[in-house]
Amino acid sequence: MIQRADSGHDNLPTGQGAVPADTPRTIHVRVLRQDAPGEESYWERHAVPYEPNMNVISVLQRIAERARAEDGREVPPVAWDCSCLEEVCGSCTMLVNGRTRMACSALVDRLLEENPSEIELRPMSKFPVVRDLKVDRGRLFRALERVKAWVPVDGSYDHGPGPRISPEEQEEAYPLSECMSCGCCLEACPQYTRIEIVQREDESDVDFARRRAAAYDKAFLGAHAVSQAVLFNSHPTGRMIADERMTALTSAGGIQMCGNAQNCVAVCPKHIPLTRSIARAGRAATMWAIRKLFDR
Ligand code: SF4
Ligand code: SF4
Ligand code: FES
Repeated sequence: MIQRADSGHDNLPTGQGAVPADTPRTIHVRVLRQDAPGEESYWERHAVPYEPNMNVISVLQRIAERARAEDGREVPPVAWDCSCLEEVCGSCTMLVNGRTRMACSALVDRLLEENPSEIELRPMSKFPVVRDLKVDRGRLFRALERVKAWVPVDGSYDHGPGPRISPEEQEEAYPLSECMSCGCCLEACPQYTRIEIVQREDESDVDFARRRAAAYDKAFLGAHAVSQAVLFNSHPTGRMIADERMTALTSAGGIQMCGNAQNCVAVCPKHIPLTRSIARAGRAATMWAIRKLFDR
């Protein structure tokens, strides 16, 4: 429920013009909370005084300052991840009003236009919850390791100038290099299903990490990793280990698992042409398989 402004901040400067008279004074926020990994989740309501030009992170900061639910109960502050506050680090992904997006660029005024009665915040559903809105994106990074999403550098001595890359190649590569590992593409992908491995009481940290990595390695890599494999296989130095990337792309959980639903490209905050990358990876995988057949 929104309480409407009766007076007050109509004339406040906002940087984007005056605040409309019907601007709510209180923002109602519904947060899906979870106290620890594997525990039951529960909804909690919060009320935050309206300020012009807020984003979801500033709303969460106000909630943390108050540490009280809307009904006045003292509650532990809601946990979430963020760092850059400018859609670069990729750490603040969550479901805002049911859509996977970056909390730092989710503007409250726009969200209230969509749904004036409340803002709903949930953690991503495809990753294990650490606490509240904070999830463990380890599988996302494991997939980047699987496809070796880097340019191998042999030693720390001066290699001299790198290979020249034409402007056309740069134009192809640059959009792919903007990936910030946010996980939006994975949250939206029907082929990317949640894996949550819980540590056994008698299991060491090392054994647990090994068992979890083995489970991740059988599952779908995801569009982000496919796209990064394409990026590094097109780089003159990165291409030195193209065969290793192709092995990862064509093994269990590889490119063949993509159902081409194209949800990933629709939600990527960086507008990375993921379906184009997937098509390029698919063609490269076919050529690679044929080449391997003749190499026998
Ligand atoms: S195109 Fe492939 S990776 Fe993208 S959402 Fe669909 S199944 Fe997932
Ligand atoms: S491809 Fe886009 S949606 Fe996926 S992790 Fe990278 S930036 Fe995020
Ligand atoms: S805080 Fe870095 S992308 Fe949102």
